Amino acid sequence: MHIHPYERLWIRLSVIMLIVFGIAIALSSLTFGIEIPGATRRAVATGLPVDATPEQSWIRELGPGRYEVNMIARMWGFDPNEIRIPKGSTVTFYLHSQDVLHGIKIRGTTVSMMVIPGQVGRATYTFDEPGEYIFLCHEYCGLGHHVMSGKIIVEG
Ligand code: CUA
Repeated sequence: MHIHPYERLWIRLSVIMLIVFGIAIALSSLTFGIEIPGATRRAVATGLPVDATPEQSWIRELGPGRYEVNMIARMWGFDPNEIRIPKGSTVTFYLHSQDVLHGIKIRGTTVSMMVIPGQVGRATYTFDEPGEYIFLCHEYCGLGHHVMSGKIIVEG
């Protein structure tokens, strides 16, 4: 089969690009700990109903420097929306949506995921640097989307 030299060049270039992107994904995953967040389980299995109330959100200390946060996203806020932890804490977030599709991005961290109704999203991060970490909803969820935020205060 005859392939025009230019076409052959472009085929080779695109294969090289795929290999480069593959290496970039592998490197970022291994060096920066970036991973694809996934649904860990159905909300029903955790005992937290889809219509959970703010009282069903909590911050639990598992041990020295280890925390678990059960966070509820709803129109238009997060519960809890202010979390205070000491420097060096490792926090596992469990995210539930009470109504529609939301998202969460914690600035300055690798935590970024969709919050899907009926599913529980899980992400873990170690806060080594003291300061304020703002978190935002990054999936458009209606009129109040832009006010849907909170913060994590890491005390030094
Ligand atoms: Cu919730 Cu945008």
